[in-house]
Amino acid sequence: MHCHILPGIDDGSPDTPTSLEMLKMQAESGVGEIVCTPHFYLSEQSPEEFLEKRQEAFEKLKEAIGENSPKLYMGAEVLYTPSLGEHDLSRLCIEGTRYLLIELPYTRLTGDFIRGFNSFANDISREIKLILAHAERYLSFTDEQSLYEIMDRDMLIQLNCGSFRSFSKTGRFIKEIIKNKRAHFLGTDCHNITGRPPNMAAARKYIEKKFSPEVFGYFMRNAGKILKGKEIG
Ligand SMILES: [Fe+2]
Repeated sequence: MHCHILPGIDDGSPDTPTSLEMLKMQAESGVGEIVCTPHFYLSEQSPEEFLEKRQEAFEKLKEAIGENSPKLYMGAEVLYTPSLGEHDLSRLCIEGTRYLLIELPYTRLTGDFIRGFNSFANDISREIKLILAHAERYLSFTDEQSLYEIMDRDMLIQLNCGSFRSFSKTGRFIKEIIKNKRAHFLGTDCHNITGRPPNMAAARKYIEKKFSPEVFGYFMRNAGKILKGKEIG
């Protein structure tokens, strides 16, 4: 549900050979379907420019892909900025859905920011359903209460595979939101084959042992549903 596998479009895979290796690692991890979510920053490019670049990257990769490669869906990891609401965001949603993967800035979330974000989310709520990218990551920058003020709206939550082994507040937060059924999706957020590689198999093993096979299954079922055009949450 979240990865940077498309070549040469963001800080993820730099080239097609790396993307192919990442796809191979994903397939070996048991991943059959992948949503490609390159970073989208409105301050750097228009949605049109982004979509054009994404299509070019996808076509380059498609030519090189083998037969047993996971199926790719197009998406975006959209950084929230106040003027986002002035654009047609449906084109940035996960292919064939009205779900948009949204990322928050890595700063302390102030009251003004939270009010602005919630008003943006209300304005688009008829057309777009938001998925918060790697909710647990923001806790390194902001307090839990502020994060909950963002999450306490009609919003779905994605967690990163690599965060499950965290201790202290991130680990506690993950446990808490899984217990309360507030987490909906899992993503590798893989960027390369070294520092941030595809890690679904390791995450599966860990989640099945430390939580339960049902928890992992729940994440997979949710992803499957939305890719089939169904709604969740
Ligand atoms: Fe990401």
